[in-house]
Amino acid sequence: MGSKYCVTLQDVQKAETRIQGLIHMTPVMTSSSLNKLAARKLFFKCELLQKTGSFKIRGALNAVNTLCAETSAAVVTHSSGNHGQALALAAQMRGIPAHIVVPHSAPACKKAAINGYGAHIVECDSTDESRTEVAARVVAETGGVLVHPNQDPSVIAGQGTIGLEVLEQVPTVEAVVIPVGGGGMLAGIAIAVKAIKPEVKIYAAEPLNADDCYQSKMNRKLTPNLQPPVTIADSVKTSIGPNTWPIIQDLVDDVFVVSEEEIKVSTRLVWERMKLLIEPTAGLGLAAVLSNRFQEIAGDIQNICVVLCGGNVDLVNADWLKDLPTNK
Ligand SMILES: Cc1ncc(COP(=O)(O)O)c(C=O)c1O
Repeated sequence: MGSKYCVTLQDVQKAETRIQGLIHMTPVMTSSSLNKLAARKLFFKCELLQKTGSFKIRGALNAVNTLCAETSAAVVTHSSGNHGQALALAAQMRGIPAHIVVPHSAPACKKAAINGYGAHIVECDSTDESRTEVAARVVAETGGVLVHPNQDPSVIAGQGTIGLEVLEQVPTVEAVVIPVGGGGMLAGIAIAVKAIKPEVKIYAAEPLNADDCYQSKMNRKLTPNLQPPVTIADSVKTSIGPNTWPIIQDLVDDVFVVSEEEIKVSTRLVWERMKLLIEPTAGLGLAAVLSNRFQEIAGDIQNICVVLCGGNVDLVNADWLKDLPTNK
């Protein structure tokens, strides 16, 4: 019988085998002061310590290793940075060329890292349309294969391996909180976790300024962001898409939207209390857990895993810190 979704638990398990030994098993860390603040037990899955500084290497390696079984063509993608870095490294590991389409506005540290992994950067505007258009042109010019940052099934399956690890590392987990952009990570983890332990809640965390996932759930139909969003969480400006939406619609229990101020406060909390240099996008999960709505909805759920999805932060541009009230 065919699956209802583009990815199955078996795809995620195969991805785990395919990328094993090539990525880090990231630690799960805890903080008693953050537990106190949240009035719950929090388990932080530290993907900021993953190769390339984000979880994205999971999906990229799964995609490249799957493709390389069939062809040695170049790979092409459009990405605000982290998937670009990850695909660049995955391609370098397999000795194939990579062409990465990056918005002009992407942080300098992300572009420098892509260059460092030997990939060719092509710049575009920051709209979804411009990224897609420029990537299609590069595919036509190079004969490369497009590896979409969040809709490619092998990318979604690769990101889902986080879910398998969380179930192993936190056997008592009752809920997983996951930042959402295009939804590859959210959908992959949801597929894995709901297939193995359906009682575990899957919660998405999203900036209020880029709330397409929340709107889609409310409207019961895919509702992309109309304008390029303005948010400090620069890795989740993109909207969920046709492959991730059906999974999110059925398997994600709730979506929590948070303000820019909440994202900044939570990012700084993780820096200060855990000494972990996360990027603001990774502050989304804690911001969601500390929000009033979460306190209402999550009820007596105690053991919560928050995915700290990345650590590629441009510290030179962290001048927002000085506008925040001092932490108590
Ligand atoms: C650090 C980080 N977190 C979260 C996301 C969102 O992932 P997805 O697009 O799979 O929802 C991204 C995507 O680039 C990212 O780089």
